[in-house]
Amino acid sequence: MIKTLKVGSGLSGSLTVPPDKSIAHRAAMFAAIADGVSHIENYPQAADPQTTLKVITDLGIRVEREGSSVVIHGRGRYGLTPASQALDCENSGTTMRLMTGILTGANIPCTLIGDASLSKRPMKRIMGPLASMGGKLSAREDTYPPLKLHAHQGLSGMDYTLPIASAQLKSCLLLAGLYCEQAVRITEPVRSRDHTERMLGFSVHTDAHGHRVIESSKQHALPLQNFAIPGDFSSAAFWMVAGSIMQHGSITLTNVGLNPTRDATLHILKRMGANIQILSSYKAGSETVADMMIQPARLQATTLTESEVAIAIDELPVLSLAMSFADGISEVRGAEELRVKECDRIDAVVDLLRLMQIEVEAFRDGFHITGKPDHTFSSIHFDSRHDHRIAMMAAISALRSHGEVTIEGAEHASVSYPSFWSDYESLQQG
Ligand code: S3P
Repeated sequence: MIKTLKVGSGLSGSLTVPPDKSIAHRAAMFAAIADGVSHIENYPQAADPQTTLKVITDLGIRVEREGSSVVIHGRGRYGLTPASQALDCENSGTTMRLMTGILTGANIPCTLIGDASLSKRPMKRIMGPLASMGGKLSAREDTYPPLKLHAHQGLSGMDYTLPIASAQLKSCLLLAGLYCEQAVRITEPVRSRDHTERMLGFSVHTDAHGHRVIESSKQHALPLQNFAIPGDFSSAAFWMVAGSIMQHGSITLTNVGLNPTRDATLHILKRMGANIQILSSYKAGSETVADMMIQPARLQATTLTESEVAIAIDELPVLSLAMSFADGISEVRGAEELRVKECDRIDAVVDLLRLMQIEVEAFRDGFHITGKPDHTFSSIHFDSRHDHRIAMMAAISALRSHGEVTIEGAEHASVSYPSFWSDYESLQQG
């Protein structure tokens, strides 16, 4: 699908962003291996979380949809039944990596496959530590899906320090730990999103170096997942940047999840001078949720710290737009993980910014952007590279175009944000 945007320079109105994708995947999986029935309200329609529902259904779990809620009939930690066909994780790395932890733990031989993009994403990071626990896994070129899980003799616990800040790797190993007599202890030198430990109530302590250590084992009881999923901070971030770089108007967002391991972009934007006001905030289950208003602002350049990079990883593409219109040189380094997301997001960001006539220096692990606060650019044509976040980033750039922005592969936004284009239209009319 091709979208051509001629946006003008302002947006106005109020939106409720879609439910959080990371929390949704986990709620569905954790409900599937809990004993009993979980009612999850506000479950996303987005493609990735729907993929997780399909995968657990293929593993024998009954899933009922009631409006925007899902009811999941959990069958306990050993209740998944082997699927007759390969489990298709489509575009979803979280589905593949977290389900691999559970399926290896439960010792269910199976094959996990994905679409063209997921088939290029590395799985060695989970295969290595799972093998050292006793798992038997194989993959194309030892890392790429199809990922095959073979029967093994049982897993043993381990102490493992994460070599990369990855919540998917951390969660995969903690979930495998649920099937081990001895503890699996994961040390996290750089903090990543904490939904798994929060939702399963794992014990967390801080070691002598100040690093978080999270522990799971067979003795850990699995809670039912009865709560409403808050709005997705990563989806909201597109509008936070839009509202900050547009020239007039005002955007209000309601029900935005503000988990402290997800909301770094809010703090980074505020440091850059963004005009974002929290109108109200309240508790929703184990998460804090807020309503906020974003208005245009004159932004200043910034340098991201290592810990910010890890917890703002999904927002870095759209944040690079804020940096493009900020005064001074902004720096993002230590973000090599961006190269192994749904596409090579460093290449995608650099290519888009250069088309917008923004000066950007690319590195293996990030970029330097020389911002131009008053810059506008002429018509451009950009391919989303089958990546939802790149499609949406290109769409937000249109706020600074005095021509048209044409986006090929615009449909990929629906991987995390199916109503993105209609929300955009409603703000244009607001
Ligand atoms: C996610 C973790 C992150 C993030 C992804 C969702 C999760 O990936 O980029 O969109 O839900 O655990 P990594 O763990 O690979 O950093």
